[in-house]
Amino acid sequence: MDSFPFSKNDLIRMRNAKRITAITGAGISSESGIPTFRGEGGLWRNYRAEDLATPEAFAKNPDLVWEWYDWRREICANASPNPGHLTLAKWETLVPDFTLITQNVDGLHPRAGSKNLYQIHGNIFTARCLGCGNLTDIDPKKQREDSCSICRSKLRPHILWFGETYESGLLESCFKRTSSSDLILIIGTSANVSVPASMAKEGIRNGALSIEINPERTSLSNLVDYSLQGKSGEILPKLLDEIYK
Ligand code: OAD
Repeated sequence: MDSFPFSKNDLIRMRNAKRITAITGAGISSESGIPTFRGEGGLWRNYRAEDLATPEAFAKNPDLVWEWYDWRREICANASPNPGHLTLAKWETLVPDFTLITQNVDGLHPRAGSKNLYQIHGNIFTARCLGCGNLTDIDPKKQREDSCSICRSKLRPHILWFGETYESGLLESCFKRTSSSDLILIIGTSANVSVPASMAKEGIRNGALSIEINPERTSLSNLVDYSLQGKSGEILPKLLDEIYK
């Protein structure tokens, strides 16, 4: 993308935006070498979610499920945040109120320095006790624990699986953020999962200026003010320069 299609008035709105919410999906991490879910080479094209990402699959074959997450965690541990992640972390330092809602479990946003962050689908570096709910960090360099250090119950990946509901209170907080935002950024998500897509729509309905960044069009492309087609690692740094130049 050589130049941005923004009107002068919208550029001023972007520059003056005090409450900004970014919603990210797997696409922002694809330039870090982490596979997405639905695109070419996407995980759901090669694996059946029913076998690996449901409570029933874990009950049936916990070792297989852990193995799959161990494999993915290793990819994430060996990856580094790209300019897309780094730009969002920098952006947070420039405005009074910046919230990042990510569907990603890869840990690259916190590693890039993002602080005001909701990881709504969990974190691949965390295990959760099936008994007491205690959360434990998983150190990718060490042997993973199988049972809880407090109550000895079995541990599971701290990931939101298909058929599960979001943590209580989490959605309310996210919807509150998006519905009161001046600017919404929707980055690297196919918008196939309805809840995060609704968060974006809620912000748009409430009058936020909205920008989508994605090489492909999605169901949100016609709803946003600007649909920027391209890679987030390339567009985001330029966008920040354009707004705050
Ligand atoms: P998807 O795999 O559904 O979509 C990834 C999106 O990223 C697609 O729209 C791509 O066009 C776009 N994309 C690819 N490369 C990009 C790049 N360099 N820059 C910007 N965008 C790029 O991933 P999500 O929308 O994140 O849930 O999927 C949502 C959820 O579905 C995931 O969190 C996961 C999955 O089931 C759970 O595991 C709970």
